[in-house]
Amino acid sequence: MTKAVVLGAAGGIGQPLSLLLKVNPLITELGLYDIVNTPGVAADLSHIDSPAKVEGYLPPDDGLAKTLKGADIVVIPAGVPRKPGMTRDDLFKINAGIVRDLATGIAKTCPKAFVLVISNPVNSTVPVVVEVFKQHGVFDPKRIFGVTTLDVVRASTFVAEVIGDLAKAPSISVPVIGGHSGVTIVPLLSQSSQPLPSGYSQEQIAALTNRVQFGGDEVVKAKDGAGSATLSMAYAGAEFAEKVLRAVKGEKGIIAPSFVHLSADAAGGKAVQSEIGSTLDYFSARVELGPGGVEKIHPIGEVSEYEQGLIKAAVPELAKNIDAGNAFIHGSK
Ligand code: NAD
Ligand code: LMR
Repeated sequence: MTKAVVLGAAGGIGQPLSLLLKVNPLITELGLYDIVNTPGVAADLSHIDSPAKVEGYLPPDDGLAKTLKGADIVVIPAGVPRKPGMTRDDLFKINAGIVRDLATGIAKTCPKAFVLVISNPVNSTVPVVVEVFKQHGVFDPKRIFGVTTLDVVRASTFVAEVIGDLAKAPSISVPVIGGHSGVTIVPLLSQSSQPLPSGYSQEQIAALTNRVQFGGDEVVKAKDGAGSATLSMAYAGAEFAEKVLRAVKGEKGIIAPSFVHLSADAAGGKAVQSEIGSTLDYFSARVELGPGGVEKIHPIGEVSEYEQGLIKAAVPELAKNIDAGNAFIHGSK
């Protein structure tokens, strides 16, 4: 029996994500929570002939606790999205409070659940969840993940476009490390499983890197005020959730980049810190998943000089974002 919960389930990401989780045969129960419309979304999904039993709750009568009861995995896409001209950090004031309150509910009701944070800015909302869990004495770094899968999905797609063969996209793997905003998104194209075309210039590499780093802006601009990526994010969120669940069921060798607290694997985390030349507590690294969540944090490995520069640029920005999350819970130092 596996219960998945979506917090923010009536939103642009929440609805298609809930649909994808509903049709995932690994999930037998699906709890949906939002401040609006969840009974309707739940009734709609409940007619789909897949195993998961669906329930939807609103805030009154302890709706959050009812939704979270018995949850094994909780995915959080609750919060406001960007409009053109905004950065993800502009969302922090509103979303940090939403995420803090939802994390408090999780810490009280299902502290052992795996928590997958989608709400932006991920580099700051993950520290918010961690600090809330610490306050409740239930923090396990192996179980809290910032979802950066969309960056990985974009990198595979864009590399497939470059080689002119979209059919190859699902099998192309490009590690994307660092964090989830602008310069903190560091695609390691030198480690792409699909080599770039011969003669691909450094300028072209820089342009492709920039496209992955600012892929979110491409969608925000195209949606022209109607929000940010929802469908591709739902796909990416469902894919990462499935990886976590497959690892819980004993599948070995599942490795995916995710923004985690580096103490989740002390030795692996230290190795990454030494590679990036910083004692940052969080980093999106290649994480090997296991039955308890993070099993191993893999080293970054060999990178090009250009990528080394990208990592260098990401570190101070990440430090600022992480501090903002910590300060939201504890006040500034
Ligand atoms: P949306 O506005 O369409 O949906 C958000 C939902 O959250 C709404 O249904 C809203 O009612 C709900 N909500 C608000 N406050 C809540 C609360 N206290 N409790 C429960 N639900 C609450 O937005 P969206 O497009 O689905 O985006 C959601 C978040 O995901 C944004 O912060 C966005 O920036 C982020 N996002 C992250 C990634 C990523 O890669 N990690 C990708 C895309 C979007
Ligand atoms: C994305 O990468 O698409 C999301 O983080 C949403 C955004 O604000 O760009």
